[in-house]
Amino acid sequence: MNNFYCIIISLFFMYSTLVLASDPSKIIGPDECTECHDVENSIWEKTHHFETFENMPEQDEALSIAEKLTIEDVIESDICQNCHLTLQTDDGETDVIAGVSCESCHGAGKEWYEVHSEEDKTAEQEKTLWAKSEAAGMIRPGNIVKLAGNCLDCHLVKNEKLVNIGGHEAGSDFNLVSWSQGEIRHNTFHSKDGENRKASATKLRKMLVIGAVLELQKAIEAYSEAKDKNGKYAVAMLARANKSKALIEKITETNTSTELKSLKTTVAQLDTSKLEAVSELSKKLLMVAKQVQNAPSQDWGDLDKIISGLGETKGKAQE
Ligand code: HEC
Ligand code: HEC
Ligand code: HEC
Ligand code: HEC
Repeated sequence: MNNFYCIIISLFFMYSTLVLASDPSKIIGPDECTECHDVENSIWEKTHHFETFENMPEQDEALSIAEKLTIEDVIESDICQNCHLTLQTDDGETDVIAGVSCESCHGAGKEWYEVHSEEDKTAEQEKTLWAKSEAAGMIRPGNIVKLAGNCLDCHLVKNEKLVNIGGHEAGSDFNLVSWSQGEIRHNTFHSKDGENRKASATKLRKMLVIGAVLELQKAIEAYSEAKDKNGKYAVAMLARANKSKALIEKITETNTSTELKSLKTTVAQLDTSKLEAVSELSKKLLMVAKQVQNAPSQDWGDLDKIISGLGETKGKAQE
């Protein structure tokens, strides 16, 4: 192979982008969900996720990023589509149909939406139906590991070229608890009077721990894969790893239950000045996150201090 092709190929790997978008051929679109979930829909329509479809492409910041990456049309760019838009393939044609929508967070619905909504079921049937829905790609709100991993896949902005060359922000100052309980919150379907209730204390505690573990896992992966360790992207990912590590240390100092022992020892082994090969560690962190999800967690009330210390939610929850 001559040098020219070597350079082209290494540039490709250097800047190959993460593909996150749900499979457009399995997207049914928010209008279909609205048929049964009109309240959740009206809340979603007042979020940045909904508005990004209209607002983002017009912004000076978007045009400047596009220019640096020689992208002609932001809406047509698969890079921007990955995190800002929802695509649907219908009759062989793929179109942008929305911003970040229901299926960006709950999974492309074509193969599960009729299964999850079946009525008149016994408890036993219900179990099977949920298992079927999840196997068909549904991300249920109770599966915090999947839910959080999915938010972070967009919110870490894991795309080195987009950040270092395009000048896009290197991720959000994300926290699963405060970022899910503000403008995003739409816990209206299962509440009696349609109240948009806060997640339970038990769920918030698990969200705090799992959110921090997955952020650490994704940040060390991003840093170890970064080509330019001095670039804005790698520097931000390392800072993120250190920040989430510190939060986990605070969590495991506050909550000394045996349920978090394994998390404590795993994170204690992590040296953020040596993050070259992290795949084993990353697998371990994911395993620990799943253990946390399944832990009984009766005595985790101490974590509420940390939760109230997170401050305001991101945006206000809607009535
Ligand atoms: C035909 C009506 C109908 C449609 C269409 C529908 N849903 Fe549902 N959905 C339901 C019902 C009913 C439930 C409650 C099921 C239960 O708790 O047994 C539900 C529950 C849910 C839940 C909560 C799941 C859980 O773990 O408790 C989510 C999330 C959800 N739907 C998302 C969606 C999304 C996203 C779409 C569009 C892709 C959609 N639904 C389309 C009727 C519908
Ligand atoms: C890997 C995911 C990801 C990709 C790819 C991505 N963005 Fe973003 N972008 C985000 C996230 C997350 C935010 C929100 C940052 C925040 O508020 O913390 C954002 C914010 C922005 C903003 C500023 C916020 C606003 O008000 O809209 C602009 C402009 C923007 N992106 C443009 C682009 C353009 C143009 C592209 C394609 C070249 C692109 N983004 C690709 C994830 C992404
Ligand atoms: C930003 C990602 C995101 C988007 C977009 C989103 N959801 Fe959700 N959804 C969540 C999260 C997170 C929860 C659980 C929050 C919690 O426990 O506090 C949830 C919970 C739900 C529930 C359960 C509500 C209950 O009462 O228990 C339903 C139903 C639902 N979503 C449907 C939808 C529909 C329909 C849309 C589109 C109109 C949508 N979601 C858009 C993330 C999202
Ligand atoms: C498909 C990618 C994607 C997913 C999945 C996603 N987000 Fe976002 N989110 C974005 C982008 C892009 C923006 C910025 C939109 C804009 O302002 O133009 C954003 C903005 C937000 C904002 C508003 C931030 C602000 O500046 O006020 C909140 C809050 C938020 N997301 C929370 C969440 C939570 C919680 C989840 C998971 C339950 C989630 N997001 C999942 C892409 C995503």
